Amino acid sequence: MKNKIIYLLVFSLFMVSCTSKKKEVNQIIENSEKITMLQNSEGYNLLKTQCYACHNPNIVSHNDVIAPPMAAIKKRYSRLYDNKEEFVNAVTDWAMDPVKENAIMRGAVMQFNVMPKQVFNKKELQKIANYIFENELEQPEWFENHERGMHRGGGGNGRGMRNGKS
Ligand code: HEC
Repeated sequence: MKNKIIYLLVFSLFMVSCTSKKKEVNQIIENSEKITMLQNSEGYNLLKTQCYACHNPNIVSHNDVIAPPMAAIKKRYSRLYDNKEEFVNAVTDWAMDPVKENAIMRGAVMQFNVMPKQVFNKKELQKIANYIFENELEQPEWFENHERGMHRGGGGNGRGMRNGKS
């Protein structure tokens, strides 16, 4: 009988410590989710203020476009860089130093001329690139038609080759 009581006591102590551990873990998960959301919204704000002046997803007509929408860039870059680190580095490196010879989107360079060099903060670019990689971006309405018409299924124009990958 005594043994049983001790056993029960130990068991309930064990249960109590388990639930508080669980709470702790949940708290950590909750916090890290909050942090990611914060980082994401920071990335989104940076993207809007620093990139959407040209890469604007809300342009109504294809004729007013001055640069490809970011969703198109994401699509093209994702084909070359399938993990987050490579993707973030590629977008960051490009924006730090946009040189025509390094451009992947050759069709866009022909149409709009190469992206003008601007002063960006590298850390902020990384946040922007992270945001782009992790989130679905807004797309202009004409974009889907354009993709279907111009690129036959969104494959780009196929001239963009870099490092032998395509
Ligand atoms: C002043 C206008 C302008 C701004 C602002 C701008 N871009 Fe661009 N960007 C362009 C144009 C035009 C192109 C298409 C021609 C090209 O590819 O260089 C382009 C192309 C790109 C490409 C594809 C490059 C390639 O491989 O061909 C990336 C990536 C890119 N921009 C990222 C960014 C990011 C990130 C920002 C914000 C930090 C940004 N751009 C802000 C004009 C701009």
